[in-house]
Amino acid sequence: MSRNTLIKIASLILMVVSFIAYIAGASAFPIASENLLPWSVWFLIAVIVNIVLWTSVMRLLTFSLAVIWFYAFVAGLVPESSTAVNLTELDWSDPEAVAEQGALVFNGKGQCAACHTVDTSAPPGRCPDLTDIGVNAATRVPGMDAKAYLIESMYQPANYLVPGYGKIMPEVWKAPIALSKLEIEAVIAYLQSQGGEIDPTPFDEPIDRADVATAAAALPPLLTGDSELGKKVFVDAACISCHAVTGIESPAAGETTNEDFEVVTAPDLSEIAAFNDMRYLEESVLVPGAQIVSGYGAVTVRAKGTTFQGTLVSQDEEKIVVRTKTADGVEEEHTILLSEFDDEPIEELTDLAAKGYFTLTLTPADADAPVSGQLVSETDETVTLKVGDEARTFSKTDVKMQMTLVDYDDEETVGEHVSGTMDDFEIVLIVDGTEETYDPFDYQSGTMTRASGKRLLVTSPMPENFPIILSVADLTNLLSFLSTLTGATAEVVPEETGDTPAE
Ligand code: HEC
Ligand code: HEC
Repeated sequence: MSRNTLIKIASLILMVVSFIAYIAGASAFPIASENLLPWSVWFLIAVIVNIVLWTSVMRLLTFSLAVIWFYAFVAGLVPESSTAVNLTELDWSDPEAVAEQGALVFNGKGQCAACHTVDTSAPPGRCPDLTDIGVNAATRVPGMDAKAYLIESMYQPANYLVPGYGKIMPEVWKAPIALSKLEIEAVIAYLQSQGGEIDPTPFDEPIDRADVATAAAALPPLLTGDSELGKKVFVDAACISCHAVTGIESPAAGETTNEDFEVVTAPDLSEIAAFNDMRYLEESVLVPGAQIVSGYGAVTVRAKGTTFQGTLVSQDEEKIVVRTKTADGVEEEHTILLSEFDDEPIEELTDLAAKGYFTLTLTPADADAPVSGQLVSETDETVTLKVGDEARTFSKTDVKMQMTLVDYDDEETVGEHVSGTMDDFEIVLIVDGTEETYDPFDYQSGTMTRASGKRLLVTSPMPENFPIILSVADLTNLLSFLSTLTGATAEVVPEETGDTPAE
């Protein structure tokens, strides 16, 4: 066989293989994780080589394949929902078939497979493996059955975070993934088939799509900016000092301080737009504290008489893990039980939840002993605590004041306040059941507290001044740039369709 024939055959094989791979949507080899373009590029190269090398019959075949490819390619450019398997009905008489449709959604439009594995031998990643989720779902939240848990996982994934994992999972019913109710039902059937029983009971969506759609429609479109200019803003506004993005070099790499803020570990943003809608990205820049990516929040907690200041690594109902850095840069992780938190005095009973209080101890005016409980809810006038098993509501004004006196040896005296302030001649407190009189002259400070409580307040270490320092044009360009960060290699990002993703 001549060398020429070998090249001919090789290019024919390349053409057929890349054509099939493209049509089948095979994961791309070797360029990137985007299917659309890489296989098309191989295919086109092969088409050209084939047209040059082969004679008429093979040329005709090549040409026909190229025409089919062209139609498929154009169809692929139309937004996903119109080409994806369109579920119009689920046949619950055959739950296994529903689960199979769910598997298609899982691996396709739902993008679940981009994060989750269903394979026990897979290396542990940043998202939980879903092998046996059909059984595990029933064990996650006490009192919640498997189906209810899975429904919540799809619609409100942040309500319950699997211990050890961050708030990464998108609300898959919202853009850009935008699964329909039927698609979600099918996916849930598929998840239940992983080790469990498929439960065909119908359910109501725990969200209001219409509401979200009207709210989104009322907002001005976000994607009117220029992404190239936005990329410049990203660098100039120093977003790049904290956030890595594939393809952009940080000019400040290695620096730990910037003149305006301390450089901290922050999420990689290379794929941020693949799983989050534009409203979330906008909010992340305008109000960084609104939703804090788990594992990145800054906390200060007082426990066991010590103050821990650092990054909140994880949190569950019993404990938190905080990462602190010593002065010489050594990182340490501390596991602290919520019950070990110190009670901090509360001077004003306002916005308790916003201040991070989760338990409260107060003495109602008509009671002798203090009451402690978990903070359930509050209004301007009242707080509701879970005391034992019952919820009890207390008036914020009908509480006995406590006063803490600190003398010049830093000794504290705490008691129920009867009368007097630091400006008077005497202060009367009830300490351990007996009324005592104190001379303010002997004390360096006296603070009145209405209650005490344990608190955990997580804040974002991301600076909050961007809305002030960036012009509106900068911000629109920046958002437009962020919207291009879908994880696909920069060269092969298909042209944006120009629609606002908020549908
Ligand atoms: C961007 C990554 C990402 C995508 C996309 C994603 N998830 Fe998740 N998912 C996570 C993470 C991280 C968690 C763990 C934190 C939590 O509970 O929210 C999680 C949790 C879950 C859980 C709870 C698991 C358990 O062990 O209790 C289920 C079920 C789940 N995802 C299903 C799905 C399905 C179905 C899809 C597609 C429709 C999907 N996820 C898409 C990241 C993702
Ligand atoms: C001082 C470091 C720092 C700077 C500067 C900074 N960020 Fe952040 N950013 C963070 C941290 C830490 C988080 C995670 C905590 C949170 O969710 O607020 C975060 C979160 C985000 C998120 C959400 C990420 C996710 O995975 O959900 C986006 C989007 C974002 N930043 C964009 C920007 C943009 C755009 C700029 C520049 C205008 C910027 N950041 C500047 C530290 C920084």
